Amino acid sequence: MRAWALAEWALVPLRLFLGVTFIYASFQKLDNPNFFNARSPISIQQQLAASVRVSPIHALLSPLVGSAVAIGWTISIAELAIGLGALLGLWTRVAALGGAILSFSLFLTVSFHATPYFTGADIVFFFAWLPLLVAGGGSRLSLDARVAKRAAAKSNLPSPELVPIPFARVQELCGQYAKGRCALRQGLDCDAAVCPVLLGPRAPLATRGAIDSVDRRALVMGATTAAAVGVGALVAGGAVAGVARLIGGAKAPVAGNSLGAGATTPTTAPSSSTPTTAGSSTGTLLGKASQVPVGQAATFTIPSSGDPGIVVHTVSGQFVAYDAVCPHAGCTVGYAGSSDVFVCPCHGSQFQVNNGNVLNGPAPRGLTPLKIVEGANGNLYLQ
Ligand code: FES
Repeated sequence: MRAWALAEWALVPLRLFLGVTFIYASFQKLDNPNFFNARSPISIQQQLAASVRVSPIHALLSPLVGSAVAIGWTISIAELAIGLGALLGLWTRVAALGGAILSFSLFLTVSFHATPYFTGADIVFFFAWLPLLVAGGGSRLSLDARVAKRAAAKSNLPSPELVPIPFARVQELCGQYAKGRCALRQGLDCDAAVCPVLLGPRAPLATRGAIDSVDRRALVMGATTAAAVGVGALVAGGAVAGVARLIGGAKAPVAGNSLGAGATTPTTAPSSSTPTTAGSSTGTLLGKASQVPVGQAATFTIPSSGDPGIVVHTVSGQFVAYDAVCPHAGCTVGYAGSSDVFVCPCHGSQFQVNNGNVLNGPAPRGLTPLKIVEGANGNLYLQ
């Protein structure tokens, strides 16, 4: 009995975690103007562009690149609605379905190449939503449960709360049960919530119409509550986004300029990042060194692999360059000038600028260095 009573609380920690996490994820996007700033490596535009390059469903994603901002808003609002649903236990199965779809979509677009696979959070989130999809929000700290209880009370039916009795045992002993039907309930389906044996004289002689009326009432009450919570959430989300834009939001890690790669012969990348030395003008012409001011970065395409490359003009006056593909799951890293690190927008890995080594995971190794030189003519060459 005690174990059963505790089991009723089993879904609460999961709901709390998923709810808070999705609400946090939503606010993290809404209150950060860089999420919609195409020049920032954490922007939805750059994340979507990176996904097109590495995702197994890249053919489906390509047409969506032009609608990246709308997709960003849709994801943010969906995360808020899903998080509130899970946290409050309101329309929990709908929220869980949305959470599972969103998590699986992010797995296919962002985390598919994460190695080992469990370091990509989206696949874990997908499976975490399944218990709520199957079981709903449970009976504890759940608006769904309260709504069902009130709807039943208004229809003069007993509470639909679960009771800690193995129901098969009741069916076995009551003498009124046969092939799924209850003789005491005029042949209606056997149902623990209105079982005359369990409820005694309090049990109504429920008819199908009464049960349907409870379901309809619960649906209307649930929808009204969900609408009220949704309006409140939209107001709160809009306020967060508005305030963040008014005060300017977080400092932008920006990708910087884009260099056009020229057409001389590329060679194999060296085993460590080699800062520029003036003089050589062989290799792949990337563009003018003056296009990359001190403390800023620029991107280019590596001709030999088609990967995105990134070059930084360090404060010590040298140019360092790397293959910008994150070794974790293949997203494209950007340069965060304010903290002088490379940042991966997908799962937050950070890399040192001077050698490409991992500062923070989950990336299992550093960025692949490239050799870049500044020619005597002021151009940058990839060697
Ligand atoms: S792709 Fe996951 S941290 Fe970069």
